[in-house]
Amino acid sequence: SRIIYPKTDDQRNRLQEACKDILLFKNLDPEQMSQVLDAMFEKLVEGGEHVIDQGDDGDNFYVIDRGTYDIYVKCDGVGRCVGTYDNRGSFGELALMYNTPRAATIIATSPGAVWGLDRVTFRRIIVKNNAKKRKMYENFIQSLPFLTSLEVSFQLHYFSSCGMGIYLGIKISSRLKIYMADCFFIVESGEVRITMKRKNKQDVEENGAVEIARYSRGQYFGELALVTNKPRAASAFALGTVKCLVMDVQAFERLLGPCMEIMKRNIANYEEQLVTLFGTNMDIADPSA
Ligand code: CMP
Ligand code: CMP
Repeated sequence: SRIIYPKTDDQRNRLQEACKDILLFKNLDPEQMSQVLDAMFEKLVEGGEHVIDQGDDGDNFYVIDRGTYDIYVKCDGVGRCVGTYDNRGSFGELALMYNTPRAATIIATSPGAVWGLDRVTFRRIIVKNNAKKRKMYENFIQSLPFLTSLEVSFQLHYFSSCGMGIYLGIKISSRLKIYMADCFFIVESGEVRITMKRKNKQDVEENGAVEIARYSRGQYFGELALVTNKPRAASAFALGTVKCLVMDVQAFERLLGPCMEIMKRNIANYEEQLVTLFGTNMDIADPSA
């Protein structure tokens, strides 16, 4: 049976805006998407309210409409804040996907609102779709060089559980620009061009941006800002049509811990390359810069 919560025009607009970049919704067809939107309901939250408590059964998946939220994970009985959501994103998919207790506590740190999607609709539409996606990408995921240090079962678990979606950039003149913030990207097809501007403003005006790398199938980018907590060090443009698997920062931090060392080591390579190109490492990893 199909669940429908009637909505005002304002609610529908806000809901559409909030769901626009939700990775788990990315490869739903229009009919599935409309069923999901119909079934979502608005829930207002107060500052300090627990939207989810670790250990509970999963009832709903949530998409953030507005407000800030802390993520707490208990380890040996002690809760530790492991991340935050700032006016966008989603949470609560793990318990619904795996029939497990809630893996974290989510506490609102301001008044806000979330859109809930009930467990039954989530499983009927999103989980089913995700299983299809996982089948499609199984071989690709297992062939990714930076994941080879992980066991196969881990690789698949990671990538099917983390809300990844297929991402197509928006077209800007003849190029597609990768615009999503706070995400990590793995190129599935096509080619991505990475460019950087020199720090000296006068230089930028005279020289524009310099191409520093090109990435194709199996290569990743966008990890640096997530590892260093700094702004993006460079810009990424899709050359023609590019398909990327995308992971949000919360999933990246939760799931890619074991690969973090490989990524950190890579920073030294970036710096070396920048010294060769610009005569400076551009402070890409220096937290004081
Ligand atoms: P779920 O386990 O259903 O409920 C808590 C949610 O917090 C979880 O799904 C994820 O969506 C989200 N979350 C964000 N960061 C983490 C984390 N580091 N560990 C576990 N859950 C997290
Ligand atoms: P991030 O800073 O998040 O966004 C831009 C990305 O460009 C960066 O992560 C890296 O993945 C990628 N990149 C490729 N070469 C370099 C380089 N030499 N210096 C910094 N970033 C680079």
